[in-house]
Amino acid sequence: MKTSPLPFPRILPLLGSLLLAVSCANPPPAGDRDHSHVSFARVKPVLERNCVHCHAAIRLPGMPSLTDTKAIAGLIGSGKLIVPGKPEQSRFYLVAALSDDEAGAMPPTGHAMEANELSVLRDWIQGGAPVPGETILLHPEGIPPRSR
Ligand code: HEC
Repeated sequence: MKTSPLPFPRILPLLGSLLLAVSCANPPPAGDRDHSHVSFARVKPVLERNCVHCHAAIRLPGMPSLTDTKAIAGLIGSGKLIVPGKPEQSRFYLVAALSDDEAGAMPPTGHAMEANELSVLRDWIQGGAPVPGETILLHPEGIPPRSR
């Protein structure tokens, strides 16, 4: 009985997607993409899926409120959690970009955001972190990240 001569091609697609996942986890440095198009409308569902469950009206001290656009606007500015144009200086982005096993990673307890969600957050901050003037409420989407 003959076994298949080349078992490798089968795992190649898998390897490919693995490499893709790894490269997406490290988004390319600022400047080589157009960030200006990332509106708050794209960031909102990312926060609602990953952050809003915990960063709600009832939360622990030290947790920024993400209940609405007004609260989020208050986190934006030089020296604040979200520094417009500077994701790498924005604690808000950095904690989301930390890997699960690093202290301070958000969401905590090892349920990192997906790479594409992280780049939406990054590009939004890179593009100046625009937030609509009117107050828009954020609502948690799906099950809390903790139980995923
Ligand atoms: C499972 C609940 C939970 C989720 C989900 C969550 N957080 Fe937090 N977050 C906390 C807790 C608890 C604290 C306060 C204690 C601490 O600092 O670890 C906190 C604190 C923070 C802080 C302030 C402390 C610091 O390290 O600067 C930031 C910024 C933050 N979270 C961002 C986020 C972002 C962004 C998301 C979504 C990607 C998120 N969090 C999702 C529970 C959560």
